[in-house]
Amino acid sequence: MSVADYLDSMDYGPAPEDDGNARSWLAAHNERFGHFINGRFTEPKAKSFDTIEPATGNILATVALGADADIDAAVAAAAKAQSSWQAIGGKKRARHIYALARMVQRHARLFAVLEALDNGKPIRETRDLDVPLVARHFYHHAGWAELQDTEFSGYQPIGVIGQIIPWNFPLLMLAWKVAPALALGNTVVLKPAESTPLTALLFAELASKAGLPAGVLNVVTGDGSTGSLLVGHDKVGKIAFTGSTDVGRRIRAETAGSGKSLTLELGGKSPFIVFDDADLESAIEGVVDAIWFNQGQVCCAGSRLLVQESIHDRFIERLKQRMTTLRVGHPLDKAIDMGAVIEERQLARIRALVAKGVEEGATAFSPPFEMPEDGYFHPPTLLTGVEPASTVATEEIFGPVMVAMSFRTPDEAVALANNTRYGLAASIWSEQISLALDIAPKLKAGVVWVNATNLFDAGVGFGGYRESGYGREGGREGVFEYLKPKAFAARKPRKPLPPVPEADADASFEPMAIDRTAKLFIGGKQVRPDGNYSLPVISPKGKIIGEVGEGNRKDIRNAVEAARKAEGWGKAATHLRAQILYYLAENLAVREKEFASRLVDMTGARKSEAEKEVAAAIERLFTYAAWADKYDGAVHSPPLRGVALAMNEPVGVAGVVCPPEAPLLGFVSLVAPLVAMGNPVVAVPSERYGLMATDLYQVLETSDVPAGVINIVTGGSEALAKTLIEHADVDAVWAFGSMELSEMAEALSVSNMKRTFVDNGLATDWYDAAQAEGREFLRQAVQIKNIWIPYGE
Ligand code: NAI
Repeated sequence: MSVADYLDSMDYGPAPEDDGNARSWLAAHNERFGHFINGRFTEPKAKSFDTIEPATGNILATVALGADADIDAAVAAAAKAQSSWQAIGGKKRARHIYALARMVQRHARLFAVLEALDNGKPIRETRDLDVPLVARHFYHHAGWAELQDTEFSGYQPIGVIGQIIPWNFPLLMLAWKVAPALALGNTVVLKPAESTPLTALLFAELASKAGLPAGVLNVVTGDGSTGSLLVGHDKVGKIAFTGSTDVGRRIRAETAGSGKSLTLELGGKSPFIVFDDADLESAIEGVVDAIWFNQGQVCCAGSRLLVQESIHDRFIERLKQRMTTLRVGHPLDKAIDMGAVIEERQLARIRALVAKGVEEGATAFSPPFEMPEDGYFHPPTLLTGVEPASTVATEEIFGPVMVAMSFRTPDEAVALANNTRYGLAASIWSEQISLALDIAPKLKAGVVWVNATNLFDAGVGFGGYRESGYGREGGREGVFEYLKPKAFAARKPRKPLPPVPEADADASFEPMAIDRTAKLFIGGKQVRPDGNYSLPVISPKGKIIGEVGEGNRKDIRNAVEAARKAEGWGKAATHLRAQILYYLAENLAVREKEFASRLVDMTGARKSEAEKEVAAAIERLFTYAAWADKYDGAVHSPPLRGVALAMNEPVGVAGVVCPPEAPLLGFVSLVAPLVAMGNPVVAVPSERYGLMATDLYQVLETSDVPAGVINIVTGGSEALAKTLIEHADVDAVWAFGSMELSEMAEALSVSNMKRTFVDNGLATDWYDAAQAEGREFLRQAVQIKNIWIPYGE
């Protein structure tokens, strides 16, 4: 036997990590836990449930099932603690957050072992990845607390934050959510997943010992019913959720109209694209990290392998060989690659999906090694011959199962990659930087890794497009999710406008120098409304001063289609977008007097007020023209060999429902930032002042705004708004008006998880730049894509 043969024949012996400390901590609590509220554990409750060790199926501990009174107590403690936590200021808070980072490092081994026991993931991962990243999150966010006064001076904390997290990265998800929330002056009620509550309880206990004031961080354990109570609590200002798209959708519907802010980090079905010029060995290791890391229970797991046809067979063969060298075993064995999946139910679900894949014609491969007998283990699995429309190619499996497909050309790769309702992450493997950076902007995903996968850092934003949710965690972009603009807090409930008077029966049209035929503006053209109906516009004195087209569902559909066709606007040079907005402002300025007199007729405003509104609208257009090529992204420098380009991309087709007041300035204030950032818009102007928008048609036509970039559908705004918000091809909705409108926008957005921006019935002072323009509007008009690229040594 040669030395090489001898080495090949050697196997790893077990290298178990000692779990003594973790077991002692559990024993010190008699393996029974209450909630952690106001700085201490509550008594264990009669209503409780067990948390199981997935590697053995044994009970690890019993935890309380949070009910109404527990959520009330935790929210009350958090609310009480919030004002003083905010008042101590960023610099003092930074010391506390820093102390939490140190605390995590001091207890790193205990956290790593307890996490591996409770979740079933390998100690190698908890020790080398989860726990160090947790510490990094607290260090990073201690820095943001330190800088809060200068870097976020226009913002204030939201208040009490409800955070609901899943079981796949129990402690890391806690850190992602708790670190920024606390750093910026909020207090937290956290509900860990029912299957993995232990590290959150340990964290809360040790944080308290590290001097975190009572009530600042509260942990209430429980299941979905407990989560739902937290979501519904009226003293909670924001819900931050990570978990399944179904539950995310439910939370969106339940919080609609509540005024709560919401971030959702949901599922994914992320593509892993290998081009024929990729470094194949690296790409093979990439696949291992993409789908067998954490048993594939990763929201951003590269779970769809797309391989260029010319190398497909070779790549798959090599991958199968590599799979046979993976080791599945007890999570505390330091020499294993894969541990147990979370629970029996999840194991059954994975098995059923693999069977479904085979039934649908795919071929399943798993290496022929022995699996542990106890516990919930699933071997690494590869499905080949998968059809793009099949269940396994479209459903999130959330287990160690890769589905492979092939493509011929880069365009085909992009089409396949985007053929999903999700949009969380993507990996691109190619040695040609020009190819990788050509593909990256075309992918609908919030995170793109070039020649890498599953990289995370506290300083780099993470979050999805489409049904993968919205909001970002990490970096500066994540900080904004835990703040609200101070100026917004000054908004007061909107006063209802006086009722529209009955039209004077004898009234004829007041003479106006414009064409009175009622039209809509769709795809760059003035078009008749589908139903051929029109609505009178009545002055406060009861005079009919004109007519606007009465748009219907079909018109909204046509407008959305026109907007979708104009998506190239988002790719147009920012300089061009700026120039066109300047031109629009100039052309409006030429007709300043005409617009002012229209406002006087329609609203009954004094001439000076009307002139002020037109001047402000022109100024606002100039402002967004200025911003168009300046609100750009950032380059993050994570502590890895690479940088992450945080690119501000347009959200997509945006629906705008304009406020009832300030007919011109309200319209411009909402449409201009969206257009400046590259989003084609379908706008529904305020119903009673629709003529203002129709007067704009001619300004738009003379300003080189490309066809479909701004579409205007006048008519009954409530019905139009509903159609627009429900439309499955609209990506974002900005709805300013009544409380009911806000609620409708948020509730109906769930169909395709649109981004919403609403005013909750609070009136914006459109003349106050702090409330009505600037970074907050621009932030809402973009979604950040973080592209990780190798850089430097
Ligand atoms: P889930 O979405 O039900 O649970 C996540 C968290 O939400 C848990 O803390 C749970 O208690 C809570 N929750 C459940 N229902 C709730 C409700 N009505 N209101 C408020 N909170 C509620 O996820 P689950 O059942 O653990 O896993 C099911 C599937 O979800 C997985 O197979 C996977 O596809 C996906 N998933 C995705 C994750 C991600 O990171 N994107 C994480 C976990 C699961």
